[in-house]
Amino acid sequence: MAKKGTIEFVCQTCGATYPRWQGKCDSCGEWNTIVEEKSGGEGFSNFSPKHKGKMLDFVSLSGALEKTVRLETGIKELDRVSGGGLVPGSVILVGGDPGIGKSTLLLQTCAKIANQGHECYYISGEEAIDQVRIRARRLELEQSPVNLTSATDVKDIIATLEKAKASVVIIDSIQTMYLEEVESTPGSVTQVRACAYELIKLAKKKGFVLFLVGHVTKQGAIAGPRVLEHMVDTVLYFEGERGHHFRILRAVKNRYGATDEIGVFEMQDKGLVEVENPSALFLAERQGNISGSCVFAGIEGSRPVLVEIQALVSPTGYASPKRAVVGWDSNRLAMVLAVLEARCGVNLSSQDVYLNIAGGLKISEPAADLAVAMAVISSLTNKPLPADAVIFGEIGLSGEIRSVGQPNARLKEAHKLGFNNAITPPTHGNEKKNTSYDMNIYEIGNVQRLINWFN
Ligand code: TYD
Ligand code: MG
Repeated sequence: MAKKGTIEFVCQTCGATYPRWQGKCDSCGEWNTIVEEKSGGEGFSNFSPKHKGKMLDFVSLSGALEKTVRLETGIKELDRVSGGGLVPGSVILVGGDPGIGKSTLLLQTCAKIANQGHECYYISGEEAIDQVRIRARRLELEQSPVNLTSATDVKDIIATLEKAKASVVIIDSIQTMYLEEVESTPGSVTQVRACAYELIKLAKKKGFVLFLVGHVTKQGAIAGPRVLEHMVDTVLYFEGERGHHFRILRAVKNRYGATDEIGVFEMQDKGLVEVENPSALFLAERQGNISGSCVFAGIEGSRPVLVEIQALVSPTGYASPKRAVVGWDSNRLAMVLAVLEARCGVNLSSQDVYLNIAGGLKISEPAADLAVAMAVISSLTNKPLPADAVIFGEIGLSGEIRSVGQPNARLKEAHKLGFNNAITPPTHGNEKKNTSYDMNIYEIGNVQRLINWFN
């Protein structure tokens, strides 16, 4: 680390530092992201070379554990994503595109907790007090005892919070904060890192829950992402598509709970409303009896979610056919298409293939392979799939259909939503499918059989 006050060149995407300017960052491969900054010494604002250090105490691995009492927000979706409530002294980074609803979510959370009698502080660096008040009025939260201020100087914030008995502090956003000692502009990696460092130190010392709002850059990363992500305990991304009113809160890192857990919200006139049954929401606009559409029974975190997968196969007008994917992995689609061509003799080389996860959800499970294959075949042959069937299963390179995790949870959710048929991988070894639901379960061992069954 460079000495405080020396010039260094910092990549604004990944935070790597260089002694001199260069066009490309060796660490993350980005071009033109390296900017000259005066080093703040990683926020060690009170570091002094005279400080000798004191002896550390060591203890054994056994011993009484301190029981952490989690602070439940009362917003069930947020409590689930955070692993069952907020842990005092923990730091949560909430990232997302501008306008997605981060400030709304955090103001609602703050108000809920304040209503339980905890001291909550909402510090806005982005908006004036009146703007936050207008939002609070819209959300009908003006009566909540939240302490609101508009500030950007971290020194002032720390001096104030030192004297307070805060339970929850919200910094909206970390990119607007600055420390005078650090001579680079607010939002630069050095500033973000130094401000976050000081605030996190205080949160740990005073034991309050600290929420840091972080904006996402064009490439989809929170500015200075690696630096901030390793400094905090939990990283939550708030996602959603413009034009769709539902929003997904996704845990990508969590020291106090499971990752890849999601919380689903709907943005309404009066703020974010929890969605208790996401499957019903994602399937709401589905039209039955259309070729190229099928329902995939997926698992998001600990919860089953049904979503509609749509494929459109049409003769290409290009020399090389087009493949476009929204909401799924395009490499995975290429693999599924290759298996259909090589193992089942389906000719797709003169066809464009478009794939869409309806509603704007992003799926990363390989368990969707079979549903994707079915949607493609259905569109190609122009035959609709049975409207009351759900599908799941992973496809291997030899065309075999592999079992996936939690088949019973998927079937149970499908049954709950009124589906009567399920196409699933064969049962293996000691796993047992629960057959007590009143459903027809078709176990299919390879893709070729599926296509025969379909024709
Ligand atoms: P906001 O929380 O300001 O987003 P962020 O902090 O992530 O930038 O949300 C802004 C959007 O949400 C804006 O487009 C208006 C919309 N919105 C509603 O639809 N209903 C509401 O009750 C509120 C407060 C906002
Ligand atoms: Mg905001």
